[in-house]
Amino acid sequence: MNSFSFNSDILHVENVSLVKISKNVGTPLYVYSKKQFENNYNLLTSSLNKTLGKKYDILIAYSVKSNSNIAVINILNSLNSGADVVSLGELKRTLKSGISGDRIVFSGVGKTSEEMSFALDANILQFNIESIPELKMLSEIASTKGKKAPIAIRINPDINAGGHKNISTGFEGTKFGIDYKEAQEAYDYASNLKGIEIVGVDIHIGSQINDLEPFRLAYEKVSDLVFSLRDKGHNISNIDLGGGIGILYNDSDHIFSLTEYAAMLKQTVGDLGCKIILEPGRLISGNAGVLLTKIIRIKTTNKYNFLLIDAAMNDFLRPALYEANHDIIEVIKSDKNNNKKVYKIAGPICETGDVIKENCYLTNPQEGDLLAILCAGAYGASMSSTYNSRSLIPEVLVSGKKMDIIRKRISTEELISFERIPE
Ligand code: LLP
Repeated sequence: MNSFSFNSDILHVENVSLVKISKNVGTPLYVYSKKQFENNYNLLTSSLNKTLGKKYDILIAYSVKSNSNIAVINILNSLNSGADVVSLGELKRTLKSGISGDRIVFSGVGKTSEEMSFALDANILQFNIESIPELKMLSEIASTKGKKAPIAIRINPDINAGGHKNISTGFEGTKFGIDYKEAQEAYDYASNLKGIEIVGVDIHIGSQINDLEPFRLAYEKVSDLVFSLRDKGHNISNIDLGGGIGILYNDSDHIFSLTEYAAMLKQTVGDLGCKIILEPGRLISGNAGVLLTKIIRIKTTNKYNFLLIDAAMNDFLRPALYEANHDIIEVIKSDKNNNKKVYKIAGPICETGDVIKENCYLTNPQEGDLLAILCAGAYGASMSSTYNSRSLIPEVLVSGKKMDIIRKRISTEELISFERIPE
């Protein structure tokens, strides 16, 4: 089910026309569908429940980095989701959105003492630890509070997975996790620290993974490790299997079904008797949002027909950073009898790399026309910046006929007001 569909040739999100939203709020902006977040979450949990059965204790810890607007986290909270956070900022957003500490895991390779201290006070479920020095620091901070920090160690299983080299994390040579071969030693070390309580094992091998095999290999390694850690007397009650499940960005993409994923989960880690934590981000938020933009100018050169739009790489970094190819469609359907032409869609930023789509086939686009960049709900707004002194664009959430501005446009004047010229 997709909450973005045409009604009388106009693209709607749920029951609201994107033309109407653009008139009310102005472009560019992100538009989200509440129902789509809910459907994505419910599809994952129902696939897991159907295949695994009710006796499994599963926590979906929504990866807040994919879309960190508090209204979005709050939707997940009302579905009983937990959260995966990677900074003090994300932790504060998550708590403010209503998710309680006992459903929060804290990942991230460079946690500061301030972050550790705050998370300990929030009584979070688990710290995912990425190095021995991190373990030591956490133990010291917890001890001064008279607490024991619940930890899982993030294991680097040396598996190559993920849609692009910049989003693969589980192979040797990345900064992430502790080498699989050194895991036993790390757990032995952790068990001697006063402020640490071992509770689990953690991995995250990458993002936008559309093949089941890397997951299977990684989960098998987790299972082997849990058995050998238990043999040595360590208490492992949680396994955190990270995020990474890919989504369909284009018609030509292929991906395993969530039922296949759940069956693989059952096969590989189903008999450990552990609480299973999953950290999906993109799977929940990706297709729940579009970036709505307007054509500023059509510029034809010897080589290309450029469509210059009012959104740019600062608003939406994925194409420039990962060569991501998002479908882009006209918000008002044009005459189907006209031939399509190929356009290169670019933003106004002064960088050659500010191209949002290389080859976009459209029918007779005009200046002022609205375009929707699809599947922009994950790693869109959350990765935006104000480069070229552009404002931070608004986010709108639609539910049925209702639309709410969940982040207002932050103007250049407001941004400049934080700066000062020394006297
Ligand atoms: N857990 C951890 C520890 C992570 O590092 C990530 C993503 C996730 C969960 C969620 O992964 P997901 O289910 O969304 O794949 N900006 C990139 C993606 C970077 C992902 C970083 N870590 C993009 O736009 O594709």
